[in-house]
Amino acid sequence: MPLTLRSYGPRDFAALHKLDQSCFPAGISYSKITLRYFLTLPSADCVVAEDGGRIVGFIVSEENPPLAHIITLDVDAKHRRHGVASALLETLEGNLALRGVRSILLETATNNEPAVAFWKSRGYRIEATLKRYYLGRIDAYEMRKILPATLNLQPVKKES
Ligand SMILES: CC(C)(COP(=O)(O)OP(=O)(O)OC[C@H]1O[C@@H](n2cnc3c(N)ncnc32)[C@H](O)[C@@H]1OP(=O)(O)O)[C@@H](O)C(=O)NCCC(=O)NCCS
Repeated sequence: MPLTLRSYGPRDFAALHKLDQSCFPAGISYSKITLRYFLTLPSADCVVAEDGGRIVGFIVSEENPPLAHIITLDVDAKHRRHGVASALLETLEGNLALRGVRSILLETATNNEPAVAFWKSRGYRIEATLKRYYLGRIDAYEMRKILPATLNLQPVKKES
């Protein structure tokens, strides 16, 4: 089935929360309250990837142009290494660029090797190590990408 990318709608919430629980260890995955908080921020954007009508990935950001922050990126384990995260990120970066974002920040655990490899492959560079950032004991990298001024992709519209 071809991958479909679309914007988040409230009906997706349960599937996104379940996917987040499966992608991160307890304590790092988001509670329903925290995930809902991020998704309902006026400055939030969330792009969802569907395969055959089933949600297989999503990405959430918040923005204050020219800066944006990636909150989370989750891909179902059975769908990894097929470009799902890359497609989600490309769409989100395009949306952000069209709204004047030039610099995107995120944090990822230093021991999350797939994620660090992924972000590096997409042009994100390590700026700092944040000691004991997760659970008071796991270090994180702060990573940043400066978007090229020429980025010009079609936006996925936010649902109201
Ligand atoms: C990190 C994650 C989002 C990547 O999703 P994905 O859909 O598998 O990523 P893509 O298929 O788009 O990968 C693009 C590139 O990233 C790199 N990459 C991705 N996963 C990798 C891995 N496990 N090991 C090494 N490199 C990897 C590769 O360069 C890959 O290109 P290639 O497959 O042609 O070699 C996914 O593993 C995931 O959801 N992990 C759990 C949640 C998480 O850690 N999220 C990030 C938190 S900051």
